[in-house]
Amino acid sequence: MKNQHTQLAATFEVTFGGAPAVNIQAPGRVNLIGEHTDYNDGFVFPAAINFGTWIAASPRDDRMIEVIALDYDNERTRFSLDDIEHVSTATWSNYVRGVCQVLLERFPDLQGANIAVTGNVPQGAGLSSSASFEVALVKMFSTLYELNLTGVEAALLGQKAENVFVGCSCGIMDQLISAMGRQGQAMLLDCRSLEFQHTSLPDTHAIVIINSNVKRGLVDSEYNLRRQQCEEAASIMGVAALRDADLALLARHQSSMSDPVYRRARHIITENQRTIDMYNALRAGNIAEVSTLMAQSHVSMRDDFEITVPPIDYLVEIIDEVIGASGGVRMTGGGFGGCVVALTPKESVAEITTAIDKQYHARTGYEPTLYICSAEQGAFA
Ligand code: GLA
Repeated sequence: MKNQHTQLAATFEVTFGGAPAVNIQAPGRVNLIGEHTDYNDGFVFPAAINFGTWIAASPRDDRMIEVIALDYDNERTRFSLDDIEHVSTATWSNYVRGVCQVLLERFPDLQGANIAVTGNVPQGAGLSSSASFEVALVKMFSTLYELNLTGVEAALLGQKAENVFVGCSCGIMDQLISAMGRQGQAMLLDCRSLEFQHTSLPDTHAIVIINSNVKRGLVDSEYNLRRQQCEEAASIMGVAALRDADLALLARHQSSMSDPVYRRARHIITENQRTIDMYNALRAGNIAEVSTLMAQSHVSMRDDFEITVPPIDYLVEIIDEVIGASGGVRMTGGGFGGCVVALTPKESVAEITTAIDKQYHARTGYEPTLYICSAEQGAFA
């Protein structure tokens, strides 16, 4: 990480001829429970992590944006704030264009910037590398030009950039936790009111993230399809969002729904309850309950929401066998590959590592990557 910082400063100086005016950082996140509930106006329980995006930047006195991306072979992009277009062949640079476009709607007189960016959030792993990039960009403009944005406003801007510009109908969780996370704590977020409460994670336990390294395919289209199915279920039940439904209401409407739509709704309704229960269980120090809730969440994502893949299910099995009721494990993030999160007793980490090393590759052919994480401060916290 230190090397990455030094490299960022050096690249900025060489590229733009001078030291940056600001150094910004925004974290990625792991969601402990509450999956796909955010765009159903429900509850989520994420933590910001010690992996993030770093930006070095300086203001300009014209309306040009120039960016150099260290993690893409120093690829560069340059555009004017008066002429922002989505470039279908571009990858990372559309996030910059998207954030600029949504910021301009609110701050039409915004000036340009010279930007160097790097990060260490594994991409495509379900740990929100894109949200951390968006929030870092918003924080950068906010700092350079004293825009006085709050963390919630910044998160909404980042989400909007992703929704309208990049084309993923994501909810608010990733951007909001990247903005407002707190060190050592997880955040219960009500995605309807955007009110949140932090609670400390037990220092007896570690957050361990295991990347299945399954290449995620069709993520955006499957994601958007889940969102449509949830909206369909809500509309059949006559509620504004699935947040407003319960299992009794769902049972009354089951016959008017296709089976997948019924199961999607069942996942969301039960997951919302589990998320609140998990927050309460952690506050009460009831790890056995945490273990049960995370296990139920995984089964619900596997069978009802159908967003897990066999190597992920297998990772969960391996870890569950080691920790039992002493901790919890489930898939985390949007799904279709990506990562598993475990809240495990610190003394079990070595045993988990050994079990995964022994069994995962042999059975699936994939090489896993393990990250021992801590909960960190958000960019606006
Ligand atoms: C992605 C989205 C989030 C959320 C999760 C699933 O990370 O960006 O808004 O919907 O998937 O919980």
